[in-house]
Amino acid sequence: MTEMTESKNGRYHTPVMLDEVIWLMNPKPGGTYVDCTLGSGGHTLGLVERMGTGGTIVGIDRDEDAIAAAKRELKHCSDSLIFVNGSFSELEEIVRSLDIEQVDGILFDLGVSSYQLDEPLRGFSYTENGPLDMRMQQGKGVSASDLVNNLPFEELRDILKDYGEERWASRIAEFIVKRRDTAPILTTGELVEVIKAAIPASARRSGPHPARRTFQALRIAVNRELDELRSGLGQAVRILAPGGRLVVISYHSLEDRIVKTVFRKMSGSRNQGCLRILTKKPIIPSKEEVISNPRSRSAKLRAAEKF
Ligand SMILES: C[S@@+](CC[C@H](N)C(=O)[O-])C[C@H]1O[C@@H](n2cnc3c(N)ncnc32)[C@H](O)[C@@H]1O
Repeated sequence: MTEMTESKNGRYHTPVMLDEVIWLMNPKPGGTYVDCTLGSGGHTLGLVERMGTGGTIVGIDRDEDAIAAAKRELKHCSDSLIFVNGSFSELEEIVRSLDIEQVDGILFDLGVSSYQLDEPLRGFSYTENGPLDMRMQQGKGVSASDLVNNLPFEELRDILKDYGEERWASRIAEFIVKRRDTAPILTTGELVEVIKAAIPASARRSGPHPARRTFQALRIAVNRELDELRSGLGQAVRILAPGGRLVVISYHSLEDRIVKTVFRKMSGSRNQGCLRILTKKPIIPSKEEVISNPRSRSAKLRAAEKF
């Protein structure tokens, strides 16, 4: 396990749109809730405080460091909590294994935590050097380095284009393939150098860090984030009790599109309609929140209630 460093505000991650999440989840004493993306437990803490006594929150995270951090942060309220190190694509199985039939609210706060981004050893950071890993579930499945060093050019290009919306996808994939013929790309620093060489200097002068889109794309591919989301949302709708709330915060247009589509499909009157959409348009963070927590800037929150 990697060693953890606290962020500047003393938490490992600042929960995004906390008030909005609590208001929409509306936790009740004695209720049962699932936080599918526990992180360091910021949202769960807010839910426990609001829920009062007698209820249960199941906190799931596929990252064992996150589970360890949340256990420390939430020590004082552990009577109400069940921690599970697993993926939300196993949501139904996890909940059934705890002898829970239905739940009153489910939260997904997608993407990576500040801890994961800021810890160079996890390989998500393009500003610090570290192993090119990016696996949320440490040691399981393929790493970013496996993809970068083994995928055919076309697949690499399509990942960068589709998941990163990277304008220079083709050139970056070309440069990666050329570079790995000489030596494998094993660190985040090496990949950043290849990306910088691929993107023309004039295009690098403005806008975000030149490696941001490529890193985002690889992270999504490594962790199969979009498949996880589709699977997790479907299971969440099935295990919600009537009147139960589903709240999803996404940080990427592809994720938001999936949430929107599932909500629309499940709220349609023709087929298996069982959701009432609570947010006609996604809720976004206030200006003040974006200033105090810039990582919240791309967040979009959608919520629905089962009937
Ligand atoms: C944005 S952070 C959540 C932060 C949390 N809400 C808080 O307040 O601290 C996202 C978390 O979800 C976890 N995660 C992402 N995809 C997951 C999945 N498919 N299954 C379980 N956990 C996942 C990540 O490991 C990360 O810790």
